[in-house]
Amino acid sequence: MDVWLVDLAVSPDRLERCAQVLDRSERDRGDRFLRPEDRARFTVSHAALRLILADARGCAPSEIRLAAKAAGKPHLAEPAGSPLEFNLSHSGARALIGLAGPADIGVDLELMRAIPDAVRIARTHFAPDEAASLASLPAEAIEAAFFGLWTRKEAVVKALGTGLSLPLDRFSVTLPPAAPRLLRDPAGWTLAAIDAGAGYAATVAVRAVDATIQPRRLPTDWPDRLC
Ligand SMILES: CC(C)(COP(=O)(O)OP(=O)(O)OC[C@H]1O[C@@H](n2cnc3c(N)ncnc32)[C@H](O)[C@@H]1OP(=O)(O)O)[C@@H](O)C(=O)NCCC(=O)NCCS
Repeated sequence: MDVWLVDLAVSPDRLERCAQVLDRSERDRGDRFLRPEDRARFTVSHAALRLILADARGCAPSEIRLAAKAAGKPHLAEPAGSPLEFNLSHSGARALIGLAGPADIGVDLELMRAIPDAVRIARTHFAPDEAASLASLPAEAIEAAFFGLWTRKEAVVKALGTGLSLPLDRFSVTLPPAAPRLLRDPAGWTLAAIDAGAGYAATVAVRAVDATIQPRRLPTDWPDRLC
């Protein structure tokens, strides 16, 4: 399984190259963002996803056809029934793109920020054992642990493809600094922390036993390969 870290800060002409490989629906979605930085994050991360999928499929980025499953998880529309699974996450100036064979994969990346009410959010939305573990940490360790916990849970939910229709208190994961692991149903899952740079938390979750996770990074000139 490959997990690609992508730097989304690109020059205006490279941003234009990125926009050119998107399909109509992606361009429409991109146009709906009010803030230019949000539009750019969306455009560049989707172009990077297309490049990575195109390299895996042996076609051009603009030839990739995407569709969404019932709860919105994107998948390859062509060839029908493709065993290539993928997932995308973007936050701040980075994106994370996971590629797997036939296994369900989810990735989550978060730019860490101050969360003064982290324990209250955990008590409201996460499983009781997770909230209790978080509350037991020294105050200065809570925010980083919260983001580790958040990305672990979100990566699982994204692998399943359910979005938030699966309540986040239905399953538990370990808290950093413990290695990432699903607690109540660990068999058949691999979770791994991804080093996404200072200030970011990131996790990949794969529904496969002992999956080997290969971290990768797109070179800075990647948009020049788009067209
Ligand atoms: C998609 C979702 C699962 C994650 O969204 P997010 O964390 O805000 O955003 P990310 O950048 O990590 O992921 C977005 C990408 O996931 C993919 N995605 C969309 N729906 C998905 C689904 N049901 N399952 C998996 N991936 C999905 C898309 O590629 C999407 O990119 P796009 O919006 O640019 O097209 C969202 O629907 C969701 O449920 N968010 C929950 C946020 C939250 O409150 N978390 C609480 C802490 S655990």
